[in-house]
Amino acid sequence: MPDSDQLLVDAQIRYYRQRAPEYDEWYYRRGHFDHGPDHTRLWHEEYGLVRDRLDALKPSGRMLELACGTGLWTEQLARYNGTLTAIDASPEVLALNRARVRSVDVRYQPCDIFRWEPDQTYDFVFFGFWISHVPPSRFAAFWDRLRTALAPDGTVFFVDNRHHADASAPNHGANLRRTTQRRVLNDGRTFEIVKVFNDPEGLTARLELIGWRGDLRTTDNFFIYGTATPFERLKPEANKAGAVMWHQRPS
Ligand SMILES: C[S@@+](CC[C@H](N)C(=O)[O-])C[C@H]1O[C@@H](n2cnc3c(N)ncnc32)[C@H](O)[C@@H]1O
Repeated sequence: MPDSDQLLVDAQIRYYRQRAPEYDEWYYRRGHFDHGPDHTRLWHEEYGLVRDRLDALKPSGRMLELACGTGLWTEQLARYNGTLTAIDASPEVLALNRARVRSVDVRYQPCDIFRWEPDQTYDFVFFGFWISHVPPSRFAAFWDRLRTALAPDGTVFFVDNRHHADASAPNHGANLRRTTQRRVLNDGRTFEIVKVFNDPEGLTARLELIGWRGDLRTTDNFFIYGTATPFERLKPEANKAGAVMWHQRPS
């Protein structure tokens, strides 16, 4: 594992720790993220659409949220029947999450996902705005770890940003060709973090290479979302040539 990636992962954790008190401005489209009322309305409409898709999957049982942040999705997940484990590396966002969700049924785990050892399997795994922060060199290892954490009939659902010229803050980098971008806090401190903008075709292809079938969609402007299933757990009728090749790969 290249040292430069460890430095990036550490810097990214530091960035989100510092950003915790201002993180929700991004969701509410305030401050640097305010692009006017029409944009905000569209943003929340599309966000709502993804929330509906999550709802439609009827999450239940042992649920896991990775990189749970301040609880914008934890709130919704905590309403479903079952138990929820919420993981994040930042104690600051976990404190905000606890205060927002106020549920004794959520088990919070402060932990770096790249060092995480799952202590059980999960029926439903969710991550919001996380996969874009996984360094390309750790992409395969991340999904391998997830495979071990997923119950035999488990579901993985995630959402992330699509690249959109106006969705970010004007002083935030959003270069499609780069895997790291500049981020600036309200007080001017600057960080370089991992941010990989994915489209459904590209991400599906990246997943296929490591043995996962993605079923990915986009909203009109802002989000990419969908499910991912390990090839070996696909129903036979969905298990097309790629999956066969995956099973026959040299070990
Ligand atoms: C873009 S935020 C998404 C938060 C939340 N899922 C949401 O949708 O609002 C990314 C989150 O990943 C967390 N994070 C960054 N690097 C991490 C790591 N290596 N391990 C665990 N969490 C990490 C940050 O603390 C932050 O809360």
